[in-house]
Amino acid sequence: MQSLNKNQMLRIMERYGNDPQQLIAVLLDIQAASGKFCVEQHWAELTSEVLGVPLSKIYDVLTFYSMFKTEPHGEFIIEICRSTPCWFACQNEEGCHGTQEVVRWFEDAAGIKIGETTADGKLSILYTSCVGMCDIGPVAKIGDDVFGSLNEEKAKTLVKHCLTGNRYELRALCQN
Ligand code: FES
Repeated sequence: MQSLNKNQMLRIMERYGNDPQQLIAVLLDIQAASGKFCVEQHWAELTSEVLGVPLSKIYDVLTFYSMFKTEPHGEFIIEICRSTPCWFACQNEEGCHGTQEVVRWFEDAAGIKIGETTADGKLSILYTSCVGMCDIGPVAKIGDDVFGSLNEEKAKTLVKHCLTGNRYELRALCQN
């Protein structure tokens, strides 16, 4: 995907009448058009200038909502819950291996480490905190979709669908 240029960025804001009340919608569109799945600092600065919203307020929004990212990421982001209930939900007959084991399943399947993005820009793996579905832990989310009762097989399947861009199959596995 191509990176956003300044004119495209200005057009996004114009579409919302350069209205500061539309800040979240503007930032979502900028992120979607960014080609990097994030709102980089120079775009946050231009948004601040054009909408007349202090940069600090823009970063309040970007850091408050987990849907926003400020660093480049893959087209798909698998976010693994590392809160305590999910940590304890990851158990097998040899005992509790915790979230590290879930992370390892995803890392092995994707060939990257947590915090990294695949070379083709398709997939990043990150941590998240509780997404409110502890009863089906261990849990990961991709966008707004939550996937629970994770095991190694399911982790591999999720990674495969992300790497092949198969949103339909991903959606079919989602549990929220
Ligand atoms: S602790 Fe993982 S969803 Fe609540």
